[in-house]
Amino acid sequence: MFKEQKMKTVRIGNTNWQASNVALGIMRMGTLTVSQATDALLAAHDAGINFIDSADIYGNDPQLGRGSSEIHFGQAFKQSGLSRDDFYIQSKAGLFADNNNQITRYDSSKDHLLAAVDGILQRMGVDYLDSFLIHRPDPLMDPAEIAAAFDQLVAAGKVRHFGVSNFNPQQIALLQSAVNQRLLVDQVQFGIAHTGMIDFGLHTNMTDERSINHDGGLIEYARRKEMTIQTWSPFQYGTFAGTFINNEKFAKLNDVLATLTAKYRVSKNAIAVAWILRHPAHMQVLLGTMTPAHIMDSAAGSDITLTKQEWYDIYFAAGNDLP
Ligand SMILES: NC(=O)c1ccc[n+]([C@@H]2O[C@H](COP(=O)([O-])OP(=O)(O)OC[C@H]3O[C@@H](n4cnc5c(N)ncnc54)[C@H](OP(=O)(O)O)[C@@H]3O)[C@@H](O)[C@H]2O)c1
Repeated sequence: MFKEQKMKTVRIGNTNWQASNVALGIMRMGTLTVSQATDALLAAHDAGINFIDSADIYGNDPQLGRGSSEIHFGQAFKQSGLSRDDFYIQSKAGLFADNNNQITRYDSSKDHLLAAVDGILQRMGVDYLDSFLIHRPDPLMDPAEIAAAFDQLVAAGKVRHFGVSNFNPQQIALLQSAVNQRLLVDQVQFGIAHTGMIDFGLHTNMTDERSINHDGGLIEYARRKEMTIQTWSPFQYGTFAGTFINNEKFAKLNDVLATLTAKYRVSKNAIAVAWILRHPAHMQVLLGTMTPAHIMDSAAGSDITLTKQEWYDIYFAAGNDLP
């Protein structure tokens, strides 16, 4: 059994599985020292986070090579003195990258997925994953092959639950029609500075750029199917362009965030987390900061409920409008 939660939980998919509504992603753990990685894990645990997100591709340390985030996690987890029951552990696979971190192909073949999970377990030093996601939709994927891989992973006791990442509703429906396990999660980018998933719904039948539906109506689909949306890069703008927090390019947004930090007595990170959690889809926020103070600050957003006007004020301050 897991220890008593200190933060709000979210139900994962349509299950009874309750996990912290703020999770720690370890994409940026690959270049830390083991001691820094240990501090990050302990900070997350202290804050009440009980969910770790990873991917086999994370980290490319010059000595350790591809997957160094998971190697560092494994070493830090051991050093931290935490137990396997302290964290739900999720990882992803299906991407290949070269040494310049350029993605070279997607691969969701059965053999690749089975080998990838073995590699993940070995690097992270654990016997099973609580959740395993297909990292991105491979146009060449054969759903029947993925189904066979999932069945084998369950039978071997290596994976408990499954999901996807960066899939649109049609891709999810296609895969769900073939696999025997319910797809519980879709992990996608969403945050104050990346709001395409709601913009187009607010601009239905208009002709401006925001009216373009880039994701196939994922939020509505996930809510209907009781899937959990996990939001990656909650503090970033663009794709890893940098954080909007205290960034002069986002002066108006930072002014509004600063006003709310005074009201709620938390950091801007916490308000940015609370903005995502205010959406009724019950999303789970994946933090990527590896700085213990930022982890603690951000996790404080778990329990804050912004007013509707505050939510809209933040949306406007990020440069959006309403028709
Ligand atoms: N499925 C996918 O395709 C996908 C893609 C990308 C990421 N992910 C997942 O999402 C997780 C989070 O992604 P992310 O790391 O891009 O998210 P993020 O939390 O939005 O970004 C983290 C970065 O923002 C910086 N940051 C945060 N707060 C700050 C502050 N107050 N002041 C200055 N810098 C600040 C962090 O630096 P400090 O460490 O100094 O705080 C770090 O460099 C990943 O670990 C991974 O698990 C999934």
